[in-house]
Amino acid sequence: QARSPYYYADGRYVSELVLPRSRFAHKGTYGHALLVCGSQGMMGAAVLATGAALRSGCGLVTAHVPAEERFVLHTSCPSALVSGDPMSVFSRLPDDMTKYAAVGIGSGVGRHDLSVRAFEALLSCGMPMVIDADALNMLAARPELAGSMPPGCVLTPHLGELRRLVGTWNDDQDRIEKVRTFAARYGCCMVVKGAHTMVCSPDGQLYFNATGNPGMAKGGSGDVLTGYIAGLLARGYEPLSAALLGVYVHGAAGDKAAAYYGQEGMNAADLIDFLGEALAEIQ
Ligand code: APR
Ligand code: MG
Repeated sequence: QARSPYYYADGRYVSELVLPRSRFAHKGTYGHALLVCGSQGMMGAAVLATGAALRSGCGLVTAHVPAEERFVLHTSCPSALVSGDPMSVFSRLPDDMTKYAAVGIGSGVGRHDLSVRAFEALLSCGMPMVIDADALNMLAARPELAGSMPPGCVLTPHLGELRRLVGTWNDDQDRIEKVRTFAARYGCCMVVKGAHTMVCSPDGQLYFNATGNPGMAKGGSGDVLTGYIAGLLARGYEPLSAALLGVYVHGAAGDKAAAYYGQEGMNAADLIDFLGEALAEIQ
């Protein structure tokens, strides 16, 4: 009997994915996440993504940002390491990429020509990677880059970014088929963000997320998700598990923020503060 390709990712489902933490862990045990984020005037996105990664359980987080903006990170995210890019946009890889277990790229990164080239170099490093925001736009502008995506990529488009990647669709079913085709062709997980975020695995299984609320429809919510999933990848989660668990916990943190501040009053930074509690609740 054929399995239905549709799943409802609720707390019971995603709790099965949560990995144990060893009593004897040290900071090298659970991976080093690299976030390529921020550019001149877009440092808030970098702070949000980095702050979220610091709640994921990974051992170390490095934010690669323009060197001239590095104090923004040092003061708002003192638990993170900072790698300084010599330009005011992402222009080159940090030295020694071998120490990182996973990457998140996109939050506030811009789409300068130099960044496109550096992004191309990053793809060739072959690590698991979350690709969001302007990194998705770079991918859409240079479709041949998608062919060099390493295994284990998680793409997190909202509907506008998705349209730039896969073209327009006629209706919901057509959109789903276009997402599945893209995921299968490039072997990536697709996270299509919205009120019930849909996760699509490379083999075409579809998961609809149970958590989240319209209070999350505020600038920066997506950057929190990017950093969090990148941290989970570094922590040792498989790409599909990182996507499903990340989307669920991010939404659950949104529901906690709404309970505390209300849907109107909550903002993206509040999500970060509830990520830890939201994950602990399903463990
Ligand atoms: N219900 C539940 N969740 C929601 C809802 C809703 N009604 N609206 C939004 N969300 C969640 C989405 O599922 C997603 O996780 O909030 C997040 C919004 O992410 P984005 O659409 O990426 O928005 P944003 O954080 O503002 O993006 C920042 O990146 O994508 C670029 O151009 C975009 O400049 C923007 C920047
Ligand atoms: Mg976004």
